[in-house]
Amino acid sequence: MKKIILVSIALLALMATAAFAAGSGVITLTMATGAVGHEYDLSVVSAKEYMRLHPGIKVEVLKTPDLTTDRLGLFLQYFEAKSSDVDLMQIDVIWPGDIAENLVDLNRYGASKYVKDMFPAMVANDTVKGRLVAVPWFTDAGLLYYRADLLAKYGYKHPPKTWTELETMAKTIQDGERAAGNQDFWGYVWQGNSYEGLTCDGLEWLVSNGGGSIVEPDGRISIDNPKAAAALDMAASWVGSISPPGVTGYGEEDARRVFQAGNAAFMRNWPYAYSLGQASDSAIKDKFDVVPLPAGSAGRAAAALGGWQLAVSKYSKHPKEAADLLFFMTSERQQKMRAIDGSFQPTVKALYKDKDVLKAVPFFGKLFDVFMAAAPRPSTVTAPHYAEVSKVFYSECHDVLTGKQTGAEAVKNMSDEIKGILGQ
Ligand code: GLC
Repeated sequence: MKKIILVSIALLALMATAAFAAGSGVITLTMATGAVGHEYDLSVVSAKEYMRLHPGIKVEVLKTPDLTTDRLGLFLQYFEAKSSDVDLMQIDVIWPGDIAENLVDLNRYGASKYVKDMFPAMVANDTVKGRLVAVPWFTDAGLLYYRADLLAKYGYKHPPKTWTELETMAKTIQDGERAAGNQDFWGYVWQGNSYEGLTCDGLEWLVSNGGGSIVEPDGRISIDNPKAAAALDMAASWVGSISPPGVTGYGEEDARRVFQAGNAAFMRNWPYAYSLGQASDSAIKDKFDVVPLPAGSAGRAAAALGGWQLAVSKYSKHPKEAADLLFFMTSERQQKMRAIDGSFQPTVKALYKDKDVLKAVPFFGKLFDVFMAAAPRPSTVTAPHYAEVSKVFYSECHDVLTGKQTGAEAVKNMSDEIKGILGQ
């Protein structure tokens, strides 16, 4: 009898192992993340660690397009089809108000104990009508990267504090480097393609010139004003002079490749570009630094507020497990790893005092105030129509950069079109 029981137990154990190995007990979670810079690699690192800790879960990391506008297009298709193919998604800071109805309320899975150590404004941004539809994963702010070695070579004692100063320095360094034989050298690279990235760069030009922020927090459409028009004309004057004509097709990665290859004096980009620039195979390792963007005629500098969150799709078949993975991915420990290895800016407050993080990315400490004062895009006030409003802004702005219209014409068109979208 004892033998029979033992054999049956052994058999049951064998069956369980076989069933587990065959995958019947394993839940697969698909997480759609970005692939800009180290985004994808580091997501895979975290996913592997999670799987080690949770043998019953298989995590598949799905790469998504580099441009946020294309990513949104992809996610909208999943939502439209009510697809359960993707369980977790990396969503942009501007999307919660537009796509909240497709996302799970993470409060149902005990989110409060995870988000309590994060910046309250970021958590508030991800809270739509009382539902926490995403958890802040990393934040972003537009920054000026500059070649410290070249500034010294041309006798500049400090990086530019105003756009005018940047124009002069960029031109001088560009002329000098070309005369020295590098015909591919440009003064300033940034994001001029017709997509959300241009809305970020454009907002920085506007705010630094006192031209408002397209639609104000109280709902007033402010874009049709002379300072905004002048800001767009200023950027258009760079195209083909201190910036390559092709800048009107640039996203973040295009600008980074030029700067990282040693072919630009200045670059506007997000923090992620820092760790790549400092990599051992980078042509600019230890030759560059990061400062706030220059001030415009308003006498102030402006950094656009960006950032990414993780969310669980309402159409996931495993929302509880997906939420658990989400809390792991966005935890302080994973954010610390991502900050050190990928210069992704944490959303957990304590990490700005962490000595390992500050050693790897010194400007996280030095520019803390810039991050805190970053200018948000008008996504909350225009929700659920932000994507349409932004498209008007970046398309009309792009037409100024390519010389099809003036800044004054553009801001008038923008205002009319945005009024139509918001029904004013
Ligand atoms: C960065 C920002 C994001 C922004 C995008 C624009 O990824 O984090 O908020 O929308 O750039 O290209």
